[in-house]
Amino acid sequence: MAAHISIAGFFVPRCRTGHRARALASQGIAAPKKEGEEEKVKLGGSDLKVTKLGIGAWAWGDTTYWNDLQWNDRKLKDAKGAFDASIDSGITFFDTAEVYGAGFSGAINSETLIGRFIKERKISDLNEIAIATKFAALPWRLGRQSVVSALKGSLSRLGLSSVDLYQLHWPGIWGNEGYIDGLGDAVEQGLVKAVGVSNYSEKRLRDAHSQLKKRGIPLAVNQVNYSLIYRLPEENGVKATCDELGVSLIAYSPIAQGILSGKYTAANPPTGPRGRIYTPEFLTKLEPLIARIKEIGLSYSKTPTQVVLNWLLCQENVLPIPGAKNAEQAREFAGALGWRLSDDEVAELRSIASRTKPVIGFPVEKL
Ligand SMILES: NC(=O)c1ccc[n+]([C@@H]2O[C@H](COP(=O)([O-])OP(=O)(O)OC[C@H]3O[C@@H](n4cnc5c(N)ncnc54)[C@H](OP(=O)(O)O)[C@@H]3O)[C@@H](O)[C@H]2O)c1
Repeated sequence: MAAHISIAGFFVPRCRTGHRARALASQGIAAPKKEGEEEKVKLGGSDLKVTKLGIGAWAWGDTTYWNDLQWNDRKLKDAKGAFDASIDSGITFFDTAEVYGAGFSGAINSETLIGRFIKERKISDLNEIAIATKFAALPWRLGRQSVVSALKGSLSRLGLSSVDLYQLHWPGIWGNEGYIDGLGDAVEQGLVKAVGVSNYSEKRLRDAHSQLKKRGIPLAVNQVNYSLIYRLPEENGVKATCDELGVSLIAYSPIAQGILSGKYTAANPPTGPRGRIYTPEFLTKLEPLIARIKEIGLSYSKTPTQVVLNWLLCQENVLPIPGAKNAEQAREFAGALGWRLSDDEVAELRSIASRTKPVIGFPVEKL
């Protein structure tokens, strides 16, 4: 796929040539400062620059979907390890939400945890990290003022005076225009550097973009479910519209909630709520794809997780935010950067993946 150059120790994807590009080390190019470090990218038309891959923090403190529905000190230590290891590996963009880890017994709010981790690490220059969080468009929240008010709650939990990116977590059932106005207000009040949406269809994306544009504010991102085995954004016009409008596509669940790491099989399916989505039957159908991902990974000395994250990076204008529960997982993500699959491999993986019907996504994508 891409020929690459290294500028000041950074890996810079340059142009598609059709030839396989190897990891920098094997090309004898000067090693970057950290494994696979790549230049930061601007989010959409905003001035906010973030690492080409972020870390998702949904699982931190959560007892509704992750962590076998229980939170404890060991998991807390692991989450802190993931935060620190990400930064040590050069990944400094974190994605959370006000609803992650909220409300259920034993849960700790993910924003609160991130606030703690930032303090404990004694980060002297907060510009070195970028925090994204999200507004929950709950049906009883009406109007633009609800956005700024919820954002202030998030800032208080995070212990920050502003966040880098604020996103509407899903479209509102009503009052959506008010929410978009609220995003604009948050920018004008200096509470956020950039704003975005999540789970927005092509039409809603266009509407949000044009409403903000009237105030001279760029819609920076649309965060949607996108992975090798969940390619709805390629089919429903969302990816093409992001590219057309200059909106960055943030890919959530980029390793299909751990399934594409290859560690789950029909004989060893995931436990908890994930097990109801990724059934042994589904995992059996996925076997040829996982086998090919592993083979390709071996040829680059990369793990399956690194291959599937790289597949997303190859789509251009896509920024994956895999969730890491511990330091080891976070470190592995860094190895997805600094190299690219070839065009042929990207196409072959898409073709094998298309033989398996995707699982059902978050219904709000269709609102
Ligand atoms: N906007 C939205 O509506 C929305 C929805 C979903 C997610 N998100 C965001 O996207 C982020 C990522 O999505 P996600 O957490 O759903 O899914 P994901 O990133 O595809 O998968 C994360 C899970 O995969 C497993 N894993 C991670 N690294 C691994 C590795 N190196 N090897 C093997 N397994 C590994 C871990 O679970 P196990 O170790 O337990 O297998 C981890 O919790 C979230 O944290 C959140 O910030 C947003």
